Amino acid sequence: MQTLAQTLKQQAVSPALSQLLLTLAQSSVAISQAVRHGALAGVLGATTQENVQGETQKKLDVITNEMLKDALKAESTVRALASEEEDHIVEVGDIGEFLVCFDPLDGSSNIDINSLVGTIFSVLPAPEGEISEQSFLQKGSEQLAAAYVLYGPSTMLALTTGQGVQLFTLNPDSGEYLLTNEAVNIPKDTAEFAINMSNQRFWEAPMQTYIADLLLGKIGPREKSFNMRWIAAMVGDVHRVLSRGGIFTYPTDNKNPDKPYKLRLMYEANPMALLVEQAGGKASTGYQRILDIQPEQIHQRVAVILGSANEVDACLEYHQQDYSGEPEL
Ligand code: AHG
Ligand code: MN
Ligand code: MN
Repeated sequence: MQTLAQTLKQQAVSPALSQLLLTLAQSSVAISQAVRHGALAGVLGATTQENVQGETQKKLDVITNEMLKDALKAESTVRALASEEEDHIVEVGDIGEFLVCFDPLDGSSNIDINSLVGTIFSVLPAPEGEISEQSFLQKGSEQLAAAYVLYGPSTMLALTTGQGVQLFTLNPDSGEYLLTNEAVNIPKDTAEFAINMSNQRFWEAPMQTYIADLLLGKIGPREKSFNMRWIAAMVGDVHRVLSRGGIFTYPTDNKNPDKPYKLRLMYEANPMALLVEQAGGKASTGYQRILDIQPEQIHQRVAVILGSANEVDACLEYHQQDYSGEPEL
């Protein structure tokens, strides 16, 4: 089986980008080991700190963030990084061509129940001159590469450099990623959705109506039965979508008026949107293609609807309708 390095060579990815992607992959192997040791390594549980978004950091959020930061500081191709767990951007070098955004541990509420977690990466070009937060505020369509690593029953890496999506499986004996799917293709149609249903009363009318119609199954306007899944880790849910199709959404809600969206644009929505589009799917906020959003802040949040192309389109149709005359749901 082909290794990650061989695949990057075959794709004619530049030596600098290959070097960076191999460094990120190598770090994820170390993270995978930390995750696998769990309680034995004393890595479970929470810290007493909060991140810039007011979320209590798990020990593994902090450990994985430090691991990635250390690896990128030693990586000559990178100028600066932005992380979910860092208030501000971190400059790491003077000569690199790239900026890296990452979510070091996605799904961290799963860690203490020994369930799925992952890491998400986005690589952007570093502009010339001084680097500031402004340098990171590039549309998702500018990403040079996007990837996630899923620490599941096997550790898997999903990668795009703009040439489709490849899936690699970590050989735990050799510590090498081997190519196990060279061209991921998300089925256009699906009968599976993923949403946190407990927020239902807080959604806007289009999402309320869309999900209500899915739940009606065969007797509803969609005329088919839908199944539901929710892993509570975007990496797990997106991996299922890449593997067998589906629609995943974390929509706008009014639970907390200061925080109408949950997922972060720069290191969750954008890299996942690029992976999904490269695999033949779609990714939208309901009103705009995610990859077309002009970011305003590195930690900004956004509504996400992604997955099987025809199902995302079906959901978007609900967002085109005018609900103003209808009674509140
Ligand atoms: P993180 O652990 O990096 O903060 O991300 C968690 C995100 C995302 O991965 C997942 O889809 C969602 O939060 C889960 O939200 P609920 O807790 O509302 O289910
Ligand atoms: Mn996350
Ligand atoms: Mn996280």
